[in-house]
Amino acid sequence: MLNIALPKGRLGEKVYDIFEKAGFECPAIHEKNRKLLFENEEKGVCYFWVKPSDVAIYVERGAADIGVAGKDILLEYEPDVYELMDLGIGKCIMAEAGKNGYTDQTDRTLKVATKFENIARNYYASVGRDIDIIHLNGSIELAPILGLSDVIVDIVETGTTLRENDLCVNEKIIDISARLIANKSSYEFKKEEINRVRAAAQAYIRSGQDRK
Ligand code: PRP
Repeated sequence: MLNIALPKGRLGEKVYDIFEKAGFECPAIHEKNRKLLFENEEKGVCYFWVKPSDVAIYVERGAADIGVAGKDILLEYEPDVYELMDLGIGKCIMAEAGKNGYTDQTDRTLKVATKFENIARNYYASVGRDIDIIHLNGSIELAPILGLSDVIVDIVETGTTLRENDLCVNEKIIDISARLIANKSSYEFKKEEINRVRAAAQAYIRSGQDRK
């Protein structure tokens, strides 16, 4: 049996759809209830929904053999897992954003609000900019509006949140998308099962690209 951690929410539904179409369906998952764990013995898969930012923890510690996590989470927490494949969904960017018309005063320490501290520190170290991190857990866009920070480092998907709050992207930091990850020892002991799922998902994704 392969234990598979799915990120709860819109992205997770897209991810499950890929696994289902790839031949690893688990019909019980569509039942309207609040169960968190779904098994299909015949297909040898057991799915469970977890908070997107927790997927990497389940996989790193072996509670899940494989899972799907955003590249943002992998860069931020650097879990000790294998990154097997880019699923090409959940695409967005990590960017520095600020108020429209903002210009950086490079003689001052830059105040950066973010929930991605590690990504922000690495980025500003790479460009040699002194920063002061203000760690927030959500609604990051409020920080520059209220003068809590000069800029933010956050995920931009459609850009709507920025636009509707008179903010804009100053600098793209990195492209983000969903990745299939595997626990390192599971990949040793269940290599065949994991690669079967990976190959089927890859074939399904490729067939979709061919249809475009
Ligand atoms: C994320 C991100 C932005 C928003 C960007 O927030 O932090 O706020 O999505 O999406 P957009 O470019 O399509 O507007 P999320 O919904 O995860 O909530 P959060 O406030 O908890 O970060």
